[in-house]
Amino acid sequence: MAATEDKKKKSIQEICSLSPGGPPRSSNDRSRQDVELIEQGTFEPTEHFYPRVLNAQIHPLVRSFLSLGNNRIIKRYCHLHPEANPAAVAKVLKASTRYFQWGGADLFSTTTDRGQKRFVVVETNSCPSGQKSMPLANEDASESEQAGYRTLLEKSVMPTLRAGKFNGHPLPQGKLAVLYDKNKMEASGYAATLADLTGEPVYLVPCYAEDLHPKVRCREDGVLEICTPPAVTDEFGKACVSMYSDGQESPVWEPVRAALRYVTQRPWTRLPPLTRTLVFNPVLACLAGGRNKMLAAKAYDIYNAEIAHTGLTIHTPETIWDVAKPEVPLWVGRMGGLAVVKVPYANAGQGVWTITHEKELHAFMSIEHRYDRFIVQALIGNNSWSSVSQSGRLYHVGTIPNLKGNIYAADLRFMIGSSPEGFFPVAIYARRARLPLAEKLDTGTNSWDVLGTNLSFKRLDGSWGTETERLLLMDSKDFNRIGVGVDDLIEAYMQTVLSVTAIDGLACKLINSKGQFGMKLFQSLNPDPKLLAELYPTQLNPPLLPVELPNMVDVCHSSSVQVLIETEEERLARELQQDVIRSQPLLVTVFYLGGNWREGFDAINSADHQICCSQRGRGFTAHQCSSLDRQCYLPID
Ligand SMILES: Nc1ncnc2c1ncn2[C@@H]1O[C@H](COP(=O)(O)OP(=O)(O)O)[C@@H](O)[C@H]1O
Ligand SMILES: [Mg+2]
Repeated sequence: MAATEDKKKKSIQEICSLSPGGPPRSSNDRSRQDVELIEQGTFEPTEHFYPRVLNAQIHPLVRSFLSLGNNRIIKRYCHLHPEANPAAVAKVLKASTRYFQWGGADLFSTTTDRGQKRFVVVETNSCPSGQKSMPLANEDASESEQAGYRTLLEKSVMPTLRAGKFNGHPLPQGKLAVLYDKNKMEASGYAATLADLTGEPVYLVPCYAEDLHPKVRCREDGVLEICTPPAVTDEFGKACVSMYSDGQESPVWEPVRAALRYVTQRPWTRLPPLTRTLVFNPVLACLAGGRNKMLAAKAYDIYNAEIAHTGLTIHTPETIWDVAKPEVPLWVGRMGGLAVVKVPYANAGQGVWTITHEKELHAFMSIEHRYDRFIVQALIGNNSWSSVSQSGRLYHVGTIPNLKGNIYAADLRFMIGSSPEGFFPVAIYARRARLPLAEKLDTGTNSWDVLGTNLSFKRLDGSWGTETERLLLMDSKDFNRIGVGVDDLIEAYMQTVLSVTAIDGLACKLINSKGQFGMKLFQSLNPDPKLLAELYPTQLNPPLLPVELPNMVDVCHSSSVQVLIETEEERLARELQQDVIRSQPLLVTVFYLGGNWREGFDAINSADHQICCSQRGRGFTAHQCSSLDRQCYLPID
């Protein structure tokens, strides 16, 4: 039976790899990766976790952190941070994001010259890796073998799938899919788990940037389609391949109602920012900062200003954005000759240059880059060689010294999800650099070996490899080497939640009043012609949320405006005198038309729904803030 199934799977793969009309391609052609159909009951832990992880025992401190829940985390965080406003901390952790629902931050444990320890967010990734490196948290539970795969899907995706609605719009008819361009181990784990949760087969679809015959496309109405074989069911109800009457097998384009996206390399080149299909996460989340370090830096800045009064802050290394290549040496000089230059839209360490001496700067300057804009970031190194930033120097706490007395630079990956009940932790792992953190750096040193913690590397044929020997697990063996405790995990969780919230906030602002991707605002926030030229051209039509702007003249002259915050379902329920349960907090844009920003913000911040404020004519304009479920205009004098 198993052999027959294997054969069936193979034949589906063979057919899918026949791209329409395409000639046969060489064996290392990436477009030969096949579409696969993943059935229920096919989750094999050995295929979705590193072998080391399968044999690992989670460290009791990590298990205890994972069992805390947001209420106890809020209590502990506020106890350790008397400056933080408890209501604001609770609000942040219990909020649900709108677009950026699954993120992972890379964090450094750092210390200042005065020994003040803090976690610093180096970057925030949309669709992050992490599942295959996380030991089982609960070996007794019946679904435990699917671990974080199930937690994330169950809490973040299934509520929307069960409701059949996303952001107030019904999902289209269609199949389920997982799109990927990397990390098939995790992508296939999600597909198998999703098949189990929905009781429906899931297409696992390669989505490579360089695919000459893409397997995914977007219809004008925003529905994604995938290139599948004319797969139907056999007499046993199992998926198989049908033949057309002339004996020709030809692929068909199937609409997709929901897709988990593990597409990490320039995803905006082959998917539009928003789609009618539920995409988890939409590409909008990547453009707003999830795969765009430039906009992420701006999002943190904007959000830090918004939450300044709550005692919460996202800690990041000082970052200079919109830097053109000729300016790079000036900014590196301003940071004391040590800095990190990043291509904002690359990942897996490919677009990052750690600069600690002239030769490294020269190496960066002599390369022809794909894009025109960079960010320059304060370098976090050792105490005698870290960038001088405006807030002083930060340096790596690093790993606990090994038997040779070596300390390594390390980072922590913290993956979280957003659910209707708020955020939750999903997976954590750490990575160390190749070489120990030297006391002094010679001018001949390749500083990447001392600072670079990425495990992935790109082979010459374009495929990816992983240096797992530098991976540090949350298990009883590695955890003590990382040198963090429960309070550190709480700190890292909080920083991750804040950075994801900041990027989600910017994503909301990138939707214009017509409910479409606000290209004008994006262009001005991200003035990089080469990036703009890469964007997938489709605009969602009809738009996601057509909103009618009220007549501004009337509103401006009224002394008060009634703010009615109610969904269509809630209105109906009210009329029928039924109870309604609001599954997600409503997002309300409030434009206040007078007074100052801070007063306006504070006045409306006390409401128990999420609000995005904007002051017309000052700083923000209406279309930057109008992505939300309702718009209200509130004159504040
Ligand atoms: N400010 C910094 N100081 C020191 N090292 C850094 C800094 N920023 C990044 N790095 C190193 O470069 C790696 C890659 O940077 P990151 O911003 O996470 O980009 P990527 O998307 O390529 O992973 C990090 O894992 C870290 O090892
Ligand atoms: Mg990274």
